[in-house]
Amino acid sequence: MVQTARTQVAIIGAGPAGLLLAHLLHLAGVRSVVLENRSQQYIEERIRAGLLEQGTVDLLIECGVGERLKRESLVHHGIELRFGGRGHRIDLTALTGGRTVTIYAQHEVIKDLVKARLDAGGEIRFEVSDVSVHDFSGPTPRVRYRESGAERELACDFIAGCDGFHGICRESIPAGVLTVYDHHYPFAWLGVLTETPPVSPELIYTHHERGFALFTMRTTRVSRLYLQCTPDEDLANWPDDRIWEELRARLGTDGGVNLREGPILQKGITAMRGFVVEPMQYHRLFLAGDAAHIVPPTGAKGLNLAVADVRILARALAAHYAGRGMDLLERYSATCLRRIWRAQRFSWWMTTLLHRFPGEGPLRTRLQLAELDYLVHSKAASTALAENYTGLPFDD
Ligand code: APR
Ligand code: PHB
Repeated sequence: MVQTARTQVAIIGAGPAGLLLAHLLHLAGVRSVVLENRSQQYIEERIRAGLLEQGTVDLLIECGVGERLKRESLVHHGIELRFGGRGHRIDLTALTGGRTVTIYAQHEVIKDLVKARLDAGGEIRFEVSDVSVHDFSGPTPRVRYRESGAERELACDFIAGCDGFHGICRESIPAGVLTVYDHHYPFAWLGVLTETPPVSPELIYTHHERGFALFTMRTTRVSRLYLQCTPDEDLANWPDDRIWEELRARLGTDGGVNLREGPILQKGITAMRGFVVEPMQYHRLFLAGDAAHIVPPTGAKGLNLAVADVRILARALAAHYAGRGMDLLERYSATCLRRIWRAQRFSWWMTTLLHRFPGEGPLRTRLQLAELDYLVHSKAASTALAENYTGLPFDD
């Protein structure tokens, strides 16, 4: 016998999108159950992005999950653009009337959200399998899954597909409904987490003839470093020595580089892709976060976009349950997509500006350098960068 339970919103996926949605719904008095196929430990240790826009930080604090964030995060007022062997600072705060960005690892956000849900008696079902979604084109959607070998069913009013890029929700929408926009960039990032103090208090984005490099951090003792590499790169070709040598070469300025080597804690390859589906909803199934869109990581927008989506979805669901109708829910996709496309454009622009394109001649390089030169010397151009980088308004 299949055991059936009931909730108002069934949320598939305990990433930032699913967990924050569950928390925001709880604050609005809406019940939900989160179904996650990985373990709690796995999601709390998974190394992902780490840069939060001002609006993301404000929202996390406002909704009561920002205590540790306020204590442990690193607030940044500027970034450095390094090219032609010299560094140039972009004063984000001065250019945006006081806005900042914040370094706080995604898995720390996850820990804070899981704790908030569990402390409030919320239901997150970890390590479930065979999740499938049904009947969402009518008023009584259902989710089926297996837990500890037993088959279960969750009856609900709405399903939130927060199950990331490889999830099942997007694929469950009938063929022909979604328009897919997909672009693969001809390079990837090799990401390294290392126990070494940051070489600089601010992030450094480097344009270099050997390829892009990004210096960022997680704490005052742990650095996160990225190197442009080929999309099919084999990690075996990157012993630690080669990583340090390459970082030293790309981050070096005319004055040298004070990069200190330390133990490498983790290495991985991140593909570079731009992906959007339209619309992000089908009757009572709503997609949010990576399930609906992927940006190349250059502008650090992935996590921030997921947060923006669920903020809008939570408000729309809360309005519905408060008796204010389906209006906001019907506009969910259009509201999200406007900001998503602007973030997609910004991520594409930053990616194209800073990476070496294989097979292309020196003309592109000269154009990139001319644009970088303009960017750091024109207040108008730096302001456009700063506005987008610290995060466009939610605007809903
Ligand atoms: N059933 C249940 N859970 C699933 C399934 C499934 N079939 N498929 C995937 N999941 C879970 C994943 O294990 C993961 O925990 O869904 C979650 C999706 O989380 P994320 O991939 O983190 O996606 P999202 O919450 O949209 O966060 C956006 O921003 O920094 C970027 O890509 C980065 O994770 C990041 C994201
Ligand atoms: C990160 O800290 O992982 C990070 C920061 C900025 C980016 C991308 C990644 O643009």
